[in-house]
Amino acid sequence: YKLPVVRNEPNLHYTVNSAERAALKEALAELEAAAPFEVPAFVGGKEVQLGGERTVQPMPHNHQKALATFATSTPELTSEAIEHALAAQKEWEQMPFNDRAAIFLRAADLVSGKYRAKICAATMLGQGKNVWQAEIDAAAELADFFRFGASQCEQLYAQQPTENSPGVWNRSEYRPLEGFVFAVTPFNFTAISGNLVGAPALTGNVLVWKPSPTATYSSWLVLQILLEAGLPKNVIQFLPCPNGEATISLVDRVLEHRMFAGLHFTGSTHVFRQLWKKIGNNVDKYLSYPRIVGETGGKNFQLVHPSADVRAAAIGALRGAFEYQGQKCSALSRLYVPKSLEEEFFKVLVEEVEKISVGSVTEFEHFMGPVISQQSYDKVLSYVEKAKAAGGKVLTGGVGDNSKGFFVKPTVIKTQDPLSPTMVDEIFGPVLTAYVYDDAKFEETCKLIDETTTYALTGCIWSNDRAATVKASALLRHSAGNFYINDKSTGAVVGQQPFGGARGSGTNDKAGSLNLFARFCQIRSIKETF
Ligand code: SER
Repeated sequence: YKLPVVRNEPNLHYTVNSAERAALKEALAELEAAAPFEVPAFVGGKEVQLGGERTVQPMPHNHQKALATFATSTPELTSEAIEHALAAQKEWEQMPFNDRAAIFLRAADLVSGKYRAKICAATMLGQGKNVWQAEIDAAAELADFFRFGASQCEQLYAQQPTENSPGVWNRSEYRPLEGFVFAVTPFNFTAISGNLVGAPALTGNVLVWKPSPTATYSSWLVLQILLEAGLPKNVIQFLPCPNGEATISLVDRVLEHRMFAGLHFTGSTHVFRQLWKKIGNNVDKYLSYPRIVGETGGKNFQLVHPSADVRAAAIGALRGAFEYQGQKCSALSRLYVPKSLEEEFFKVLVEEVEKISVGSVTEFEHFMGPVISQQSYDKVLSYVEKAKAAGGKVLTGGVGDNSKGFFVKPTVIKTQDPLSPTMVDEIFGPVLTAYVYDDAKFEETCKLIDETTTYALTGCIWSNDRAATVKASALLRHSAGNFYINDKSTGAVVGQQPFGGARGSGTNDKAGSLNLFARFCQIRSIKETF
């Protein structure tokens, strides 16, 4: 059969007096009243309420309130989870693809329908997103990942050998990996968590899932939605765990298992490299070479050409840098402005940034909410100090208030040093650093950007000179996995701009594209002679 044609989920607008706004307000009130939720582990098809100390997932906009609490998944529970996943493997991989796909199509409809308000509310309260950022993530992108995932998987399976000798039938069979996939998911996108488990599961893999400690509740909802859509209970094992020693023990237990077959990761470059090293050290233990798929850090750039529309470029920078408080993997953090536009560009940028309101996600009127945690708050402000010490000038922002939530003002820094700490290090917060270049040195500036790109996730150029755009695109060919021309550095849409970088940003396996599904398959070539 052919699957239905899929299209991107349209966004709702939550205008005053709209039905969706009323539904979301109700969902927020219900979650706030019922919180904290006790998020369990889910192993062997059952909820497991572990004993021991509980970790709190606070609401970042109101950190005295907990959205959820969870206990520590132990190495013993991890071993049990792996055995349950492996026991489910055969039945799951042998389920006809159409039936697997139908579960994800159904889950997408639950996300965009019945659970839309609830999962948006959970993402707002737990991960500090404002209404719009929650909508484009937990409603639209999550549904898109499930729908397009089913479709892209179908397209992958349709790739078959084109030649057959007389009397011969050649074919490719797409098998899942032999063993289990370990999904380690981030806090910043509920949709990414869904895709990190969804893509391997669609291709017939079983999983052990360690959700982010700062997104346990929305991750738990994603699992509930998949189960309600018909996912067999043992396909995904869910193991919440606080950061630190407990996670190291859990991870060690997973990565030393003979049937560890794949890692699907989004998070920091440092952690990904640690995991990769452990996998390397354990390689003799494994039945197969594990597939390692990761999307990691970013230090995304915007280059403004002298021909650019100044206002559009400044607003693009503002949105790229400050939507979701600069906590998208794709967020803009370094900006290159030509001397000829310096005065006008910074006038517009600073004026507009100073209009940004920062505040509680439940009030609906703020462009920015809190950063995710105290640790993140401290890191952002310490980088502002480092930038100042390195001679940077804070044009606006640079201050925070964590008395109620982890709020930091959107910060713009100007520097004359393209290697200053905030031009180079990933901060993952609302800090944008700008460097002014000499118009005559446009090509040198492209080369400078490329040479200082250790991460290579997203980048953008604003230019109305086509020849300059082509030149920059060539010089920056390897500097970004997602390159935007006259658009901001964020906002890749599933099925439209496959997402993911190279260098220190990841394995470039491209979420939202068919390539990703290939990584979780092993192809058997079958030649039959008649
Ligand atoms: N896919 C998101 C974006 O492009 C980032 O994770 O903004």
